[in-house]
Amino acid sequence: MRLCIIILCILINEGSTNFDTPGGINFNLQHARSVFSQALDSLEKILEGTGSLVTIALDQIKVCVRTVIESIEEKFEATNINKGGIRKPAATSRTLQNKNLSQNKGTTKGHIDAEAWSELLDSIAEVNDNSKSTASQVRTLKKLPPPPTPVDLIKEAGYPAESHYVITPPGYILNLNRIPHGKNRRKTKRVAYLQHGFIDSTYSWVHDFGGALAYILADAGYDVWMGDARGNTYSRNHTTLDPDDDPEFWNYSWHDMAVEDLPAIIDYIIKHTGTDGIYYVGHSQGGTMFYAMTASKPEMNSKIKAHVSMSPITYAGHTKSPVMKLLADYRGPLEKFLHRIGANEFLPHREMGEVPASICSEGVGPILCSMLLFAIEGYGPDQMNVTITSEIMKYIPAGASIKQSLHFLANMKSGRFAQFDYGHFGNLKRYGSLSPPEYDLKKVTAPTYLIYTSSDWLSDAMDNDKVYEELPNCIGRTILKDPAFNHIDLMYGKYAPDMIYRKIVEFFSRY
Ligand SMILES: *[C@@H]1O[C@H](CO)[C@@H](O)[C@H](O)[C@H]1NC(C)=O
Ligand SMILES: *[C@@H]1O[C@H](CO)[C@@H](O)[C@H](O)[C@H]1NC(C)=O
Ligand SMILES: *[C@@H]1O[C@H](CO)[C@@H](O)[C@H](O)[C@H]1NC(C)=O
Ligand SMILES: *[C@@H]1O[C@H](CO)[C@@H](O)[C@H](O)[C@H]1NC(C)=O
Repeated sequence: MRLCIIILCILINEGSTNFDTPGGINFNLQHARSVFSQALDSLEKILEGTGSLVTIALDQIKVCVRTVIESIEEKFEATNINKGGIRKPAATSRTLQNKNLSQNKGTTKGHIDAEAWSELLDSIAEVNDNSKSTASQVRTLKKLPPPPTPVDLIKEAGYPAESHYVITPPGYILNLNRIPHGKNRRKTKRVAYLQHGFIDSTYSWVHDFGGALAYILADAGYDVWMGDARGNTYSRNHTTLDPDDDPEFWNYSWHDMAVEDLPAIIDYIIKHTGTDGIYYVGHSQGGTMFYAMTASKPEMNSKIKAHVSMSPITYAGHTKSPVMKLLADYRGPLEKFLHRIGANEFLPHREMGEVPASICSEGVGPILCSMLLFAIEGYGPDQMNVTITSEIMKYIPAGASIKQSLHFLANMKSGRFAQFDYGHFGNLKRYGSLSPPEYDLKKVTAPTYLIYTSSDWLSDAMDNDKVYEELPNCIGRTILKDPAFNHIDLMYGKYAPDMIYRKIVEFFSRY
């Protein structure tokens, strides 16, 4: 989070400056800034009327921007980065408000050489290090209590709950939750598996806003299983690696989760229940994982009775999320930078309440951070009020690996649904081709039903149309045209039970 804020702040506030990195990537801050102002404007509009907390949150973002930029500026000055004709950070926050930008047209454009670029990154990394030590002090003081577990939530809702864990081949210990039957105790042999989306958790299936999918399926006679994805709040565990101390823990993308974790989970459930096939529901990344698994290991198709894919992220060239689009444009320098400062974990749950103390944890912290989440994922204003959003923020974002996020960004940029991009040299070594290989959707033969919306920021309708065309066994689709439906509304929105979940039960009943 801290890191994101720093990057966002730089992009929002640095102003009109172009410079070239040694790699030749034109880092156009003017463009970045305009994308972010647009993002903030649309957020402001979207959140209008949700209460004064939001206004305070916006003000805090502005304060945050100024604070972070100023500390980076000081580092700039301290390291004399502007020596030798290298650009001085001209449009900085202290001067920004009073400055007559048109006077500086000639001087804000410039080139930054390799040495300066590396000094710049060093200075930012140093700011980051300092805030890290502050953060660790804060951590001991302000640790949030862990959120209730899925099993607690399920029991609270009056359903039977079991907790299981699966150890996957590389040693990850994953949390697996089960609702063996509904309130009516109807005996069933039907087994459903639900896989949540990016930076989400099992919470999305068992929340108490009315009509969560897991309860609907349990009452319809399903034995419902739900896995928590590798690295999230409930699955931050490994037989030998420590997520806090071993960077190697975070060296994975959703491809690895799809080919290593998902088959292990499905085999575990089949062994445990004796079923001859699973009814699979995936939201967002849960769908991504399904396609990556069945395309890479077609033998898994036979273990699936039917598959519902809700707003999957596969082809992603048309993604509308301003934050993701912007990050995708700068994936190269971003990846280098993240590597350099040793960042591995993306939006972990525990950081939301504690880091950085001045930004995320005070007063309006959760609202503030939720705005970043909505800037990433989109938001249907009609579907959620501020009570619900702040409840959700106790659980999401639930964390992911940085590598997993970079993988999405690469596909957003390329428009391909492909494996992780290691760069030309790395790809040659690993895949024997300059570009990473694409997943072949023709190999996904399990009966599939697609559900997506025309206003989703992350999972665009045009990209999903392509999936629909390519799947050899796509039984049907529902495209929700209501602009109130955005990416996470499929999970938390008030119309989801009636407009979506009933369709899922109906589709499954045919298999
Ligand atoms: C900004 O600079 C331009 C050109 O030098 C000048 O015409 C204009 O009056 C200045 N504006 C302010 C607010 O100082
Ligand atoms: C990790 O998993 C093991 C095995 O289930 C469990 O005993 C341990 O408590 C878990 N640790 C954490 C931090 O969840
Ligand atoms: C991450 O894993 C890949 C193999 O999947 C390996 O080639 C690479 O060296 C690892 N990176 C680090 C930093 O350990
Ligand atoms: C928010 O929505 C929930 C669920 O629909 C409702 O119970 C609650 O009263 C609403 N709160 C406000 C402040 O509108």
